[in-house]
Amino acid sequence: MSGESMSESSFEYLMQKQLSRRSVLQFSLGAMLVSAMPLASATTMLRQHSSLIGFESIPTADLLDDVVVPEGYRAEVFFRWGDPVSDGPAFNMDASNSAADQALQAGMHHDAIEFYSLPAGTVNSEHGLLVMNHEYLDTQIIHPDGGFLDSPHTFNAEKVRKEQNAHGVSIIEVERNAAGWQIKRPSMYARRITANTPMRIAGPAAGHPLMQTSADPQGVEILGTLNNCANGKTPWGTYLTCEENFNGYFSLSDNQFGSAKQQQRWKRYGLGYSYYGWQQFDRRFDMQAEPNEANRFDWVVEIDPFDPQSKPIKRTALGRFAHENVAHKIAADNRIAFYSGDDARFEYIYKFVTREQWDGTAGAHHGKLLDEGVLFVARFDEAGLGHWLPLLFGENGLTPENGFADQADVLIHARAAADTVGATKMDRPEWITVHPQTGEVYVSLTNNSQRGEVDKMTADPANPRKMNLFGHLIRFSEADATATEFQWEVFVLAGDEQHGATIKGDIFANPDGLMIDQRGLLWVQTDISSSKLNKEEFVQFGNNQMLAVDPATGESRRFLTGPIGCEVTGVTLTPDMKTMWVNIQHPGEMPAVLEKRGVKKSPQDPNAASNWPDHRPNGRPRSATLLITKADNGVIGT
Ligand code: FEO
Ligand code: CA
Ligand code: CA
Repeated sequence: MSGESMSESSFEYLMQKQLSRRSVLQFSLGAMLVSAMPLASATTMLRQHSSLIGFESIPTADLLDDVVVPEGYRAEVFFRWGDPVSDGPAFNMDASNSAADQALQAGMHHDAIEFYSLPAGTVNSEHGLLVMNHEYLDTQIIHPDGGFLDSPHTFNAEKVRKEQNAHGVSIIEVERNAAGWQIKRPSMYARRITANTPMRIAGPAAGHPLMQTSADPQGVEILGTLNNCANGKTPWGTYLTCEENFNGYFSLSDNQFGSAKQQQRWKRYGLGYSYYGWQQFDRRFDMQAEPNEANRFDWVVEIDPFDPQSKPIKRTALGRFAHENVAHKIAADNRIAFYSGDDARFEYIYKFVTREQWDGTAGAHHGKLLDEGVLFVARFDEAGLGHWLPLLFGENGLTPENGFADQADVLIHARAAADTVGATKMDRPEWITVHPQTGEVYVSLTNNSQRGEVDKMTADPANPRKMNLFGHLIRFSEADATATEFQWEVFVLAGDEQHGATIKGDIFANPDGLMIDQRGLLWVQTDISSSKLNKEEFVQFGNNQMLAVDPATGESRRFLTGPIGCEVTGVTLTPDMKTMWVNIQHPGEMPAVLEKRGVKKSPQDPNAASNWPDHRPNGRPRSATLLITKADNGVIGT
């Protein structure tokens, strides 16, 4: 933080930062232990009684640079950006690790996470694999002197490669012994998958002319995965990583380049401007040099975590759009439905139904089920009814007259196909989760401040607020996972009472991550953007957080608050539900309120907003996985 840019009002923040440092040091020198807060929450709306929730809620955290969980719970920092996945190189706090080091260390900006028991196919809760996504980067933090925007003259191929290696997926082996949970190093399973890992293309778009590039004239092999946001776990035991905002990696220096149709489709996917600058040293990201490379991203990628030699597979039958996550439900006849939202304003919710049935056994060979089936998109009608509209070439206007050449073209341009069939434009669909007992499907719609503006979609029953600042959750039910009709309702409008929220209990805004655990408790994680965080009408929500919500009563109780500038995203439990891991993403992004006070982060001052989790004097904020346990070794949430 630069002293001269500090305003008087940031004194309180500085004091908070110092206090926070001290409190962490009190607990442990390595700042590995974070505090438990016994106080009752200050900000709650009328509470309903829940038999699923047993902990006392915690208050909001206003610019506290620490993690807080309820009394009786313990949260420890477990796996940070730069920590080795196996017996690889240690992290250098000055960000001087090389690209080669980064390929053996945790990527940046942890997102979704999933636990897989070892041995494979068991429900062991003491030994397993953690598989997690690394969504994107803070280029002021990953290099000692910043990325291409901060230091254009020192930007080079090595920096590009380091940034690429900080993306993707980490697989680590974890084991509980007498001393608690440990990361096993070395591990035969430990692995990094990055923006350069070779992957196979499968499904209808494999080999299609739109998937061919000069490096891959057959259109069958892609290097890497990007912007890995949230995830899914298949019933046969593989991991699905979802490519979200891929558009920000590709550059088009001449916006007149390409046919009118191509330009229109690039625009539909927001392509053209890269905020990383990789195209300077990697021609794949220069759209004029490789116009089809961008078609090879924005897919769901299947990874077999148990086979470190296995090649990830991009499953094109699930469509190309900004996938948030994938949740599944098994139909009565053992076909499987996979639900996925497209996280952008006025985008859609999709469901893919496999053609073949699953035989109920584990094994990565079942992945072929993801290659044949029907992709549907949701239309939310009046009176709580809805329909799944199939995206099939030749039907519902998906014809050559409307610009679609074949089924691969429909899938590669799923957004345009969904426009054509008349699906409902939603308020940024984020995570989807399926209730294990009722089969109900819950979707977070995080916000959409543009709804109701001039020339924009007006409010509709499923997106009922104009200027939807705070977001909402919808739930729907179907007679069967393969049904083409559904019944839906708004489960909760987030925000505060003044803005018409319907929360029963602790308030929250901008729901994003969702998981319903095996007891039927819904965990909700929030992502108030830095541009609003801790400012004006968002002050009351404090730092981003995680809550438990009872789907039956609607009661919400705040369970965890994150450090300054972070988003809380990604959560998984062991099968016995006694261990939880939660990811803290982008601590140290500048909250709006600090920016307003003149606080500035830079490569020279990376910890201007947050110094979590290490709190070293010359430290830098690091995304990290938290390990959460209960002091009495009980079930999390009780
Ligand atoms: Fe990567 Fe929509 O969150
Ligand atoms: Ca998200
Ligand atoms: Ca979000």
